[in-house]
Amino acid sequence: VWLVGARGAIATSVVHGVAGLARGRLEPVGMATARDPLARLALRPLESLVLGGHEVASGSIATAAEELERNGVLPATLVELCRDEARAHDARVRPGVPDGPDLAGVAGADGLDPASIELARAPARERAARLQADIEDFRRVERLERVVVVNLASTEAWREEQPAWRSLDGFEEALDGDTDLPASSLYAYAALRAGAALVNFTPNRCASLGALRELARERGLPHCGDDGKTGETLVKTALAPMFAARALRVLSWQGYNMLGNRDGRVLADPAHRESKRRHKDEGLRSILGDPALHTEVGIDYVPSLHDWKTAWDFVHFEGFLGARMSLQFTWTGSDSALAAPLVIDLVRLADFAAAAGESGEMEHTACYFKSPLAGGTHDFHRQWRRLLEYVERHLA
Ligand SMILES: NC(=O)c1ccc[n+]([C@@H]2O[C@H](COP(=O)([O-])OP(=O)(O)OC[C@H]3O[C@@H](n4cnc5c(N)ncnc54)[C@H](O)[C@@H]3O)[C@@H](O)[C@H]2O)c1
Repeated sequence: VWLVGARGAIATSVVHGVAGLARGRLEPVGMATARDPLARLALRPLESLVLGGHEVASGSIATAAEELERNGVLPATLVELCRDEARAHDARVRPGVPDGPDLAGVAGADGLDPASIELARAPARERAARLQADIEDFRRVERLERVVVVNLASTEAWREEQPAWRSLDGFEEALDGDTDLPASSLYAYAALRAGAALVNFTPNRCASLGALRELARERGLPHCGDDGKTGETLVKTALAPMFAARALRVLSWQGYNMLGNRDGRVLADPAHRESKRRHKDEGLRSILGDPALHTEVGIDYVPSLHDWKTAWDFVHFEGFLGARMSLQFTWTGSDSALAAPLVIDLVRLADFAAAAGESGEMEHTACYFKSPLAGGTHDFHRQWRRLLEYVERHLA
């Protein structure tokens, strides 16, 4: 499992989570793959997973784990228990490629890794080749049967889609011409060229580009994304179908998020926030069948909250006789504890799909994402049924 953003909060939770589960010291709470019927698929056992990845920040996973421990996300006993696995993961981490306009914004207290700053100066073609070589080395040195690459890097600044990104030929030309390409798309290109399956848990462009979807199909590799559906959006896409089914008229759905982790600090920048906001606004209009619905999500960085995100949603709706009513909910969750089990599920499902020779967008995983690459609906219940149908087909 190759994690891009290998020492971030989610990656650190995944590393400790996998180790704790493999040692039988954690319960698989939040993991659908640990429960019937998904557990009946021939999924890869967690004990056999080897983790590594790319990272642009200096520092160590031990420091990241201490921070999550201080903020009540990782239990101290788990951090102590999994020191060896965490150290082994850290030793496999390679310098990543920062996103172009982002050299300073994403790094934590320890700053950017000098090797990543150096790499950022290389032409795009060379950067992609380095990333690919790292993934191939990982497979060779660890004698791995298959690699799944998971993008868990910071949210990139929003960029308008370029015509060159739509076809593989255009993308290759952009690489040769050293034009501005999102780092996430370089990682996706490198992963697919290295023969790895790919999961994009971020709002970053990654393999959503037409060019890279084409590459995945050409190479016969499965991939899925975008942007993990962990908290507020999960609740929204589970609740909205109820309003639609009862034919109630939703007039506006306004949301507000406060978060204090590093992801929150990155999202404090308007260009980065735009990438996230677009995904958060997407689902409701389609579920409620109202393209003009007033819906927005405000996002603020509140450092003292650390990993504990609070979301407040206000739903203003109209019933019979024009009666106007409202529903409000607040959701307070540990972002990393919500995300990690989904990442582990997705790794196992991507590995399973690759083993089964499936390629292209894994539409059965739409329930895991705010902005699914395929699957045709944002309605959580329909997405979940779609996953169960996939499982039933494989169990038949
Ligand atoms: N936690 C959730 O509930 C959730 C839900 C959906 C999406 N996400 C997304 O997941 C991603 C990770 O979240 P997090 O809380 O772990 O953030 P984080 O800031 O703790 O971790 C991100 C890591 O990526 C590294 N990084 C940044 N740019 C990189 C690059 N180009 N190459 C390699 N490494 C790079 C950073 O140094 C950092 O260590 C974010 O994009 C976030 O928006 C999180």
